[in-house]
This record gives sequence, structure tokens and C-alpha cells, in this order.
Amino acid sequence: MPESAPRRRLLPLIGGVGGGRSAKTCLYRCGNACFHPAPNKSDNPYFGDIFQGVLSRRTALKGAVVGSGAGALGWAAMSPAAADRNPDRPHPSPRPTFKSVLPNTRDEVSVPEGYDHHVIIRWGDPVLPDAPEFDFANQTGEAQARQFGYNCDYVGFFTLDDDHGLLWVNHEYTNEEIMFAGYTDGAAADPEWIRVAMAAHGGSVVELERVDGTGQWRLITEGERSFNRRITPETAFRVAGPAAGHALLRTEADPEGVRVLGMLNNCAGGMTPWGTILSGEENFNQYFVGAPDTEEYARYGFPTDYSGRRWDRVDERFDLARHPNEAHRFGYIVEIDPHDPDSTPVKRTMLGRFKHEGANVNLTEDGRVAAYMGDDERFDYLYKFVSDKKYVEGSHKHNMTLLDTGTLYVAHLEGNSPAEEIDGTGTLPSDGEFDGTGAWIPLCSDTESFVAGFSVAEVLIHTRLAADTVGATKMDRPEDVEPSPVTGKVYCALTNNSSREPGQADEPNPRGPNKFGHVLEIIEDGADSAATTFAWIVPLVCGDPEDDSTYYAGYDKSKVMPVSAPDNLAFDKHGNLWISTDGQPSSLETNDALHVMPVEGRFRGELRTFATVPVEAETCGPLITEDQKTVFLAPQHPGENGTVEQPTSVWPDGDFPRPSVVCAWHKGGRDVGA
Ligand code: FEO
Ligand code: CA
Ligand code: CA
Ligand code: CA
Repeated sequence: MPESAPRRRLLPLIGGVGGGRSAKTCLYRCGNACFHPAPNKSDNPYFGDIFQGVLSRRTALKGAVVGSGAGALGWAAMSPAAADRNPDRPHPSPRPTFKSVLPNTRDEVSVPEGYDHHVIIRWGDPVLPDAPEFDFANQTGEAQARQFGYNCDYVGFFTLDDDHGLLWVNHEYTNEEIMFAGYTDGAAADPEWIRVAMAAHGGSVVELERVDGTGQWRLITEGERSFNRRITPETAFRVAGPAAGHALLRTEADPEGVRVLGMLNNCAGGMTPWGTILSGEENFNQYFVGAPDTEEYARYGFPTDYSGRRWDRVDERFDLARHPNEAHRFGYIVEIDPHDPDSTPVKRTMLGRFKHEGANVNLTEDGRVAAYMGDDERFDYLYKFVSDKKYVEGSHKHNMTLLDTGTLYVAHLEGNSPAEEIDGTGTLPSDGEFDGTGAWIPLCSDTESFVAGFSVAEVLIHTRLAADTVGATKMDRPEDVEPSPVTGKVYCALTNNSSREPGQADEPNPRGPNKFGHVLEIIEDGADSAATTFAWIVPLVCGDPEDDSTYYAGYDKSKVMPVSAPDNLAFDKHGNLWISTDGQPSSLETNDALHVMPVEGRFRGELRTFATVPVEAETCGPLITEDQKTVFLAPQHPGENGTVEQPTSVWPDGDFPRPSVVCAWHKGGRDVGA
């Protein structure tokens, strides 16, 4: 920690478990993040105080950060309604018309009338051609490292030809109590269980084939399967970008600080135009023990004690008392090339280190690359990276360098309604919208830090601490951030924040507590992802539509479905927004779901439910294929509140729960959702 950075005021310990998420999800996925005080203890100043600072930095930053469109000061007065008019951008027209799946608590995947679905691959299914068959009661780490991992989250898909494709899946975390009979905790666990759990993390690439020209895809289970790959905590990653080799990244096993084994807790992600996967290391803190009691570790929630999963029992690098820098080697966006099974995956330090939900890229007007990213924690921030170099179609080697040089920004959002009209209840202010403007505050480029007291590498390694000092806006758990391929507008899922008190509500996070979450829409100035200023609006305030605090972009709420805890987002080719959910409050009496909502035109806000998932599962994925014939979704942690002895879900096969990837398609061959 640089000496110049002030110590930060402690927020009072408030709140409890967020939204409707179960206690098991909290324990195993986030390491009980919500039971601890939010780690952001910064006392960010009001934007007016720092505005001059931002402007002076902006003018100092040459072309990369000069605002476009509204000009130097114009953005501050620009309303979203004005920014919303992008006459050059086509607006999508087809409106989803399927009949919604109704809220339910069935232990199955349900899809609308006229659709079918199929389980493609389950936890434990062979991935590598020489993998053994799954043996639930006798799993070994060695077998698991060749089989499909646990808790599938982000799903990416690249077609190889009309009938073949590559499926990428993140394996975010494990639920030991439903994986191992008699499991109690990490301290008492059979070390082989720990090895299995470790090997069940990471990611998988599997080759799929289309079934008879339909929207159904199935796993190829015979033959060479040369693309198939498992990435586990033993897979070597290259560290790239300005922080590579920094002293904070060096360890006994890697004195150069350029080679890390594994990626941890990979949650959401995105596909790049050059054919790679970007995947976010999220709650990476929970795999470690014995953290030093300092701000650098506390801001990321590293435990100082010896509890939890206890991976240190089989691999001492997870004991921070012995290897303190190992902590700094996780929390990045990783880039993986699923088309080359021999490629070394890369940790892109230029995109900062935080609890990365994922990253999605958009090309700027001049052909550079912008990556949008959320830091999923209560009161944490929204980020953007803009590359220096331009994307060059067909030049894979060049494109694999795009994410190493450029500028990293954090978002500040300012409402346009009087503060006293935002009372925390969700009641719309008198101008009829939760909306306003914002600025992307530069944190660093690859050669220059814009945060006092932090070097470039320190900004990229202690990104949360750097962002705390520049007036970033504290958001309600920013998860997936996804640009629309049709309009270029950017959407951010804000899952919930039960710790936001009524007095802490602001226009971009207008409810306190925020039990059900909301979705933010960002309209970059000039519709250019390189812009440093933007307008924003909240098109969806989630919950039961009968609850007055909800808002569906002004659409008739008698014609929409309930939605809560928006998490992963996806777009279809028509520009309709697909929203998967993580944790339903008991008041909604339903399992998690996958919804779709038009965000343009007169049906903006007309939210329908395309699928529901099994008992205690979270809906991950989702992905709509480019031909719009298939939806991939990934029900994660079915039956997470059960045990091996007393399962609460037996999906998908009627014996014990297995996180799996599913495809859904229209039986008549229509576009999905249309
Ligand atoms: Fe892994 Fe933020 O959900
Ligand atoms: Ca307003
Ligand atoms: Ca998520
Ligand atoms: Ca997404």
C-alpha cells in the first residue's frame, strides 16, 4: 500500500445474506462474502469534488480519453433521452412471442410450449478421450482432471462448420457436501476429496455436433476429439500486461512472476471477435488461508484464519502466511483460445485485479477494443478497458496482444434528479426515470498511472484500492456487463445489495435495501465504446411486478413476469436482452429462471420467462447461438442445500444432482425466443 493513500473509514457492519441466495451458495461460491462487512470501506467523495481532477486528467491523456460527442462539459447536462437517439444504428424488431414458463419449483428444466431441451454434458462426464467413466462414490483427483468439472457457469460457443462447434464452459466452484458422502469441512476432509474439488474447478472445451439440422447439439463421445481440453488449478497460465513480472507477483515457485498455475472461481465471460474466451476470476479469495492482516488483503476479503476449503492441506501455495504473493496472482481476466488445445492461457493484468464477474468486448468507432467488466461485490465498481491498438480481422497473433496495452477506467455515475427524490423505496423521481450521466475515470494506461501514490502495476494489482481514491460509484454488485451487438448500448446486471441502507440509495442504485436487483443501461457518448462520458438509465428494477418498487421500462406490469437477482446477460441477434438469475426470494415461490426482454421499441420492458431451472440451481450460461436456433444454459448447483445422504435435487438423472449444460431449441425449427 503506498504511504500516501489514506486509511479508510470503517462502515458499520450491516445486513446479511443477499437476496434469496441460499446459505450454501454463500458458503461455497463466495466464501460467505455477504456475512462479512462489505470490503469497500472507502469514503468516496461526491463527484463535484473530484470533477476538476478528472477533467485535468482527461486533458492530459491525449486521444485515448478525450470525450467524444457531447464535448468537454456538455455530457454533464446531456439527458439519456437525448443520448438515446442513435439514428444510424438499426433497431431490432422481432418481439419474443412465446408463452412464458410460469414460476415453479419443479426439479427440472422447463422450457416454453413448442420447445425441447437436452442435457449435453454433466459433472463427471468424460472430456478427454482417455477419461474414465464417472464413479460418484470413488472419485479421484486424477479422474476429475479429465472429466467435466463442477458448477458450470459461463458458456461460450464457436461454430467450426454448420454441424460442429466448440463449447467452452467455466467451472466456477464446488459444493462439497453434495459431492462427497460425509463431508463436513475442509479441515476434516479426506485429502483426495480436496484434490477432486480442486480438479473440478477451471474450465472445459468440448466438441459438439448438431443433431439432424435442428437447433439441438450433442456431445461427441467417440473418436479423436482433438479440441477437448480441461483447464484445472494445475494448468500453467502466462501472465501478460504491465504487471507481469512485478515483485508483488513473484513467488518461490515462480521467481519471475510470469507463470501461474490455474484460474479460480471463474464466473461469467465473453467471446472475442478473434475467437478467444475471456473469463473472470471472481471470488478467488476463499481458496486461501492465513492472509496477512493488511488492507491489501482485507479489501479483497482474504481470510486471515485457517478455515474454509483448506486447499493448503494439499498445496501449500494456498497458505498466504508462507506464500503471501500467491494471492496477487489471481483475480484477473483470463484469455483462453479454445481453438488451440495446446495454447497457454493468459492472465491479462491490464484489465485489473478484482472479483471479476466477466468481460465482454465491443469495437470502438475507430476499430479498437473496449472490454466492459463488473466487480461483483456489494458497493463495488464497474470498469472498462480500451485498447490502444486496433483489432485486425484475421490476424490472430496481433489480436492476442490487444488486451495488454490501453487504458483502464472505473465508472462514476451521477443522477439527474434531486437527491431528496431518491428515497430508497424505488419510487420514480418526478422526471419519471432513474437516469443520469457518467464518466469513465482513468486509472492507468500501460505506461502511466493516473492514481496518486500508485504505480501502473500497483493500480493493476490493487485495483480496488486505486479505484477507491478516484470517486468511483459504489454499485449493487455489478455482475455481467454486456454490450448489445445491435445498438452498442451496454447493459449491466446489478444482482442485489441487501446491505444498502435507505439513506445510501442513489439514482443509479435507487433502492435500499436492494433485495431484487436491477439492470443498468449505458449509452456511450457518440455511441462509441471509446467515449469517456456516457448517459445511463435503469430500464429494469426487478422483483414481483405487483410490488410498487419494480419498474419494467414503463411497460404495462400486468403483462410481464417476475424477475429477481439478474446475473448473467446475453443478447440474441435481434438485440433482445436475455437475463439469467441467481437466487429467488421465497416470496416469489419459484426456482431461478432465464428471461428475455426487448430493450428497444414499443415492447421495451415486456419481460418473458424462457426457462426455469431445477431445485436450488442458479441459471448460468446463457448463450444464444448466432443462427438463433439454440439457447445454451448451465444450471449450476442444483440441490445445493442437500447432502449426499439427503439430496434436495436429483436432476438431471434421478439419482444425485449434477451441474450440467443444457441446450434448448424450437421443435419447429423457428428462431429461439422469436
Ligand atoms: Fe459468480 Fe457474480 O456470480
Ligand atoms: Ca432522473
Ligand atoms: Ca454470476
Ligand atoms: Ca454474458
